[in-house]
Amino acid sequence: MQVGIDMGMASGNPATLDIEELLATRLLVQGNSGSGKSHLLRRLLEQSAQWVQQVIIDPEGDFVTLSDRFGHIVVDGERTEAELAGIANRIRQHRVSCVLTLEGLDIEQQMRAAAAFLNGMFDADREYWYPVLVVVDEAQMFAPSVGGDVSEDARKASLGAMTNLMCRGRKRGLAGVIATQRLAKLAKNVAAEASNFLMGRTFLDIDMARAADLLGMDRRQAEMFRDLKRGHFVALGPALSRRPLPIQIGNVETSARSSSPKLMPLPDSPQDVEDLIFTPDPEEFQRPIVRRAPPAPRPTTDILAELSRSTPAASPMQAAEPRAAQPELSAEEREERLSGVLSEILDDPGSGFRTDAVLYQEFLVRLRMRRVPGAPMSLQEFRRRVAVSRSGVDPDMAAGEAWATALSLSNGVTDDLQGVFLMMAKAAIGGEACPSDARIARAYGTHSARRARRLLGYFEEQGLIVVHTDFTGKRIVAFPDLQAETAPGSADAPDTDALKSAAE
Ligand SMILES: Nc1ncnc2c1ncn2[C@@H]1O[C@H](COP(=O)(O)OP(=O)(O)O)[C@@H](O)[C@H]1O
Ligand SMILES: [Mg+2]
Repeated sequence: MQVGIDMGMASGNPATLDIEELLATRLLVQGNSGSGKSHLLRRLLEQSAQWVQQVIIDPEGDFVTLSDRFGHIVVDGERTEAELAGIANRIRQHRVSCVLTLEGLDIEQQMRAAAAFLNGMFDADREYWYPVLVVVDEAQMFAPSVGGDVSEDARKASLGAMTNLMCRGRKRGLAGVIATQRLAKLAKNVAAEASNFLMGRTFLDIDMARAADLLGMDRRQAEMFRDLKRGHFVALGPALSRRPLPIQIGNVETSARSSSPKLMPLPDSPQDVEDLIFTPDPEEFQRPIVRRAPPAPRPTTDILAELSRSTPAASPMQAAEPRAAQPELSAEEREERLSGVLSEILDDPGSGFRTDAVLYQEFLVRLRMRRVPGAPMSLQEFRRRVAVSRSGVDPDMAAGEAWATALSLSNGVTDDLQGVFLMMAKAAIGGEACPSDARIARAYGTHSARRARRLLGYFEEQGLIVVHTDFTGKRIVAFPDLQAETAPGSADAPDTDALKSAAE
């Protein structure tokens, strides 16, 4: 059954969204705060409420107003995880639409509650695998791209549930519709599973670059997201439009509980204003003072660091024998072991396709196994070392001034681009041939040559490099700040190292 719901207008024509196609291909909505994402989700929910069961993961409690008009059950997230999983299961059995409101919970509780609920739906018995639209507003909270200030297990639970929803939910009837303010803050694997996009106003270059990547647009085309007005989005995908289509989202019937602040005229100021402000009411003296400052959250990296410092609890077997005293290591020995463990991990052919956070955990575990004492390096430092090591720089070059400049320039690009940047800088300093698209793509963990070219375009826009070609059409990348450039290299050349290791 094909049902096209009306999302608003596209240059004078109705903009329709094919619900059945959406169930199979999922949707990602992106736009800065205030761009109209929640309004868009509400429009989608209202228009499709009669056609499909809906579940909304609602961090702000915005969508509870759907219940009066459309009969959604409101589930308060302040329950045990077992209760939430049970409710989620029954929601699927009885095919009732619902809003899980997480308002008032702290971020970690929100993540745990969302995870329990999503997993409950995911684990429903096969006989209840009816289609459900699962809408997650502010999805970057539940599937963050990097570890934040929440505990590692809350992050893992929530990210795992979101990954299940987006990557493996389809067979179970779950169709993810996720909205995020910042693409760069949303885990890549979660974003990558959506085939439909509605892109709203976007300010930051890095988000624009991600949006362009996802949509397969070039960076200049993506500039159009910068000037979008509130409620205006560019639609693309099998359920929406085959080409990028600007649309304006229509009105909604129910209202958001929280709305933008409106200006209100101030009351006339009374004569005795000082008296009013400085004289306390008698009952104020009886009110206890409430301290609002919450305990400062601890960064995950601190906790990880602490874990790797403390000695693991001895098992009963070990308790019988005295443990070998930890050897004292000199700074050099320690550094040698750190580098050893690092290259062990990076030499593993599978490591290219793991996130830095996963590699970092593995790194910490191995340090513990080797009993390398002292505080381990931070995640940030670790990322840097990984980038440097992947660039293939040799000790001589690493000790030079040009390399130091390259390192400080690389601070200007985001963590995930440092590896590519340093690889290019190394080729320039060493006067080697310019790496091909395929080689650049591999350094970025992708197979897409187009993406590799876009990365170069991005560095060029940042003023870090100048790309030009020689008379035979070979590419040269110059680094003005390093006063160095690569030798000419063919952009289309195959990635010989990758071919070699595939042949082995
Ligand atoms: N298409 C639209 N038509 C009318 N008002 C809109 C539209 N989109 C958003 N708004 C209003 O703009 C404000 C911000 O929108 P909202 O959806 O909350 O943004 P976001 O979720 O992206 O932060 C809200 O008050 C909303 O009612
Ligand atoms: Mg919103």
